[in-house]
Amino acid sequence: MKKSKLERAVIFVTGGAGFIGSNFIRYMFKNTAFKGKIINYDKLTYAGNLANLEDVAQKYGKTRYVFVKGDICDYKKVFHTLKKHAVTIIVHFAAESHVDRSICGPKDFIETNVHGTFTLLEAVRALWLCSPDKRQATDNKQSYYRFHHVSTDEVYGSLGGTGSFSETTPYDPRSPYSASKAASDHIVRAYFHTYGLAVTISNCSNNYGPYHYPEKLIPLLILNALEGKSLPVYGDGKNVRDWLYVEDHCCAVWEILRKGRPGETYNVGGNCEMKNMDVVHAVCRRLELARPAAANPALKGRKYADLVTFVKDRPGHDRRYAINASKIKRELGWKPAHDFEGGLKAAVQWYLENGGWVKKIKDASYALWLKKNYRRR
Ligand code: NAD
Ligand code: DAU
Repeated sequence: MKKSKLERAVIFVTGGAGFIGSNFIRYMFKNTAFKGKIINYDKLTYAGNLANLEDVAQKYGKTRYVFVKGDICDYKKVFHTLKKHAVTIIVHFAAESHVDRSICGPKDFIETNVHGTFTLLEAVRALWLCSPDKRQATDNKQSYYRFHHVSTDEVYGSLGGTGSFSETTPYDPRSPYSASKAASDHIVRAYFHTYGLAVTISNCSNNYGPYHYPEKLIPLLILNALEGKSLPVYGDGKNVRDWLYVEDHCCAVWEILRKGRPGETYNVGGNCEMKNMDVVHAVCRRLELARPAAANPALKGRKYADLVTFVKDRPGHDRRYAINASKIKRELGWKPAHDFEGGLKAAVQWYLENGGWVKKIKDASYALWLKKNYRRR
């Protein structure tokens, strides 16, 4: 996209109160040349938290940052918000994102991830058709609306011991979460091929870092360990994930907005494959350095690693993910800036320094959900 146009644009970020969305909004204001406005459109589900953006709201709230509480499945509200703020760029993070929750209750995942994405696309299409350039849906030109869809490597399924996912790997989703994301990717692509909407898609590996909701592996390990609770490892702990520090993902999305080609998909990964057990031990080692177990009364004389507990495996647990991110490196010049040790050090430090945020998160609904769904722990 043309540099000057992008830097002054109004960007509609869905799911901006969640983990990656809030990091992305902060990244845009702090780390890029962006001078425009961001509309954060979020339903504030259990995973959405305005405390994630208190600093941003304070600094830019009267000028360049607007929060709108809304559901992406609400066509009228999406349409009117896009129109009212003269949005031209959509960065779509909003989703139900937790695989375990999708196993317990898939309905919300189909609603938000599939129907919500479709609703957003329809609102953009309608606006585009009544916009000044009035390009017809069939004239094969690209829209001046830009739609970036944030997706996951899980759409590609599960790998054996070798190989990695490229942008041409056939889709093979295996959980309700990944199936719903796969469906949304296909719908987004259809709007490019059928209507010429200028879409891009990124399929990213496992993120970690500040503001990560503590149902996901890394923050769960950090917080459980500090409280002397068990560290649940599913199955044999040998499943492999490719870890990426969240700021690197935010940077990748920005590079795609700046230089990505409409209609293209970019895989984003940390080049950092690790077995879950190795992640668990890395977290324990990092905590021993930052807050030694010997000086933590909750540990009662145990080491953090003594808390590891093997539990029943996740149904349909994908064995291994690995991302080949050579396309985004070659075409857009993006590569991760953080290695795992550096990223983990920053993440652990963030959780140690943000006890207030953690306390707020552990509210009644989260505690209730854990009680209902995690009986096995
Ligand atoms: P998250 O669960 O932390 O945040 C999701 C946000 O979306 C929340 O703020 C929530 O309130 C909002 N939301 C949910 N349903 C909504 C609806 N119907 N309308 C409006 N807002 C709604 O998720 P995350 O980990 O930040 O993931 C963001 C996106 O990135 C998702 O699309 C996810 O699939 C994708 N992704 C995540 C990872 C990861 O490791 N976390 C990796 C690759 C891709
Ligand atoms: O790969 C990208 C995906 O990464 C994103 O699309 C998802 O939104 C995001 O949640 C994440 O999915 P995972 O299922 O890989 O993340 P999670 O943190 O839930 O689990 C990581 C690995 O750790 C996985 O193999 C399951 C395992 N695990 C997880 C939890 C929560 C455990 O062993 N114990 C646990 O308590």
